[in-house]
Amino acid sequence: MLEVRDLKVSYDGVLAVSKVSLDVREGSIVALVGGNGNGKSTTLRAIAGLNAADKGSIKLAGIDIGVMPAHKRVTQGICLVPEGRKIFAKLTVERNLQLGAYTRDDPHEVAASIDRMYSLFPILKERRHQLAGTMSGGEQQMLAISRGLMAKPKMLMLDEPSWGIAPKFVSKVLDTIQKVNAEGVSILLVEQSLHKALTIAHYGYVIQTGAIVMEGKATELLDNEDIKKAYLGL
Ligand SMILES: Nc1ncnc2c1ncn2[C@@H]1O[C@H](COP(=O)(O)OP(=O)(O)OP(=O)(O)O)[C@@H](O)[C@H]1O
Ligand SMILES: [Mg+2]
Repeated sequence: MLEVRDLKVSYDGVLAVSKVSLDVREGSIVALVGGNGNGKSTTLRAIAGLNAADKGSIKLAGIDIGVMPAHKRVTQGICLVPEGRKIFAKLTVERNLQLGAYTRDDPHEVAASIDRMYSLFPILKERRHQLAGTMSGGEQQMLAISRGLMAKPKMLMLDEPSWGIAPKFVSKVLDTIQKVNAEGVSILLVEQSLHKALTIAHYGYVIQTGAIVMEGKATELLDNEDIKKAYLGL
């Protein structure tokens, strides 16, 4: 579904991502894990078209999206749920969902998608007239994911969805991601925590100072003591 090759991204001439190649197979959940400042968000933002890449190719379902502006990439079927959620706190839950459909133009289809989100996440239906900023962190994350899904992506990228959420609700957010995946959406999941991400992922990549240093099946990475010690400080 997604094929990234030799991605390089810099800020003011300083390389933040120097060597990233990764694949997400259709229907799978792939994790990209690594500590603070190693280039996870930069990678996702470059794939989404929000940061310009210096080099590399990005293909979605065989189509070269690396040359397209960000909104065109969304219409091709890839969507990013950004770090820190970035929901519109002063707008209602329902309005946030409507805004997620900004690339679509049939109001009946958009209404049908909102109903689908409400059946996937009944809590959002209960809260539909509530201001988004007054919900709990976990509920806001469900809204951020649903807002991303309103663009009808084939491929959803999630940047640290467990960030700022009470530990007991983290498993709920991970369940949500599995639910979305079961509906046929391929997932690229970024997390600092190896454990959180790899318990639901099929395949994983470890990124360190802007380069992929290890990859493998999630179960193999979870068992690998070297990774825990060397890259994640566990
Ligand atoms: N807008 C920016 N301008 C300049 N440098 C930046 C900018 N954004 C990120 N960087 C730098 O790029 C590198 C990678 O940052 P990035 O945000 O991609 O890391 P990350 O792995 O997502 O970290 P975290 O886990 O803290 O979110 C860091 O050295 C960071 O300081
Ligand atoms: Mg980040």
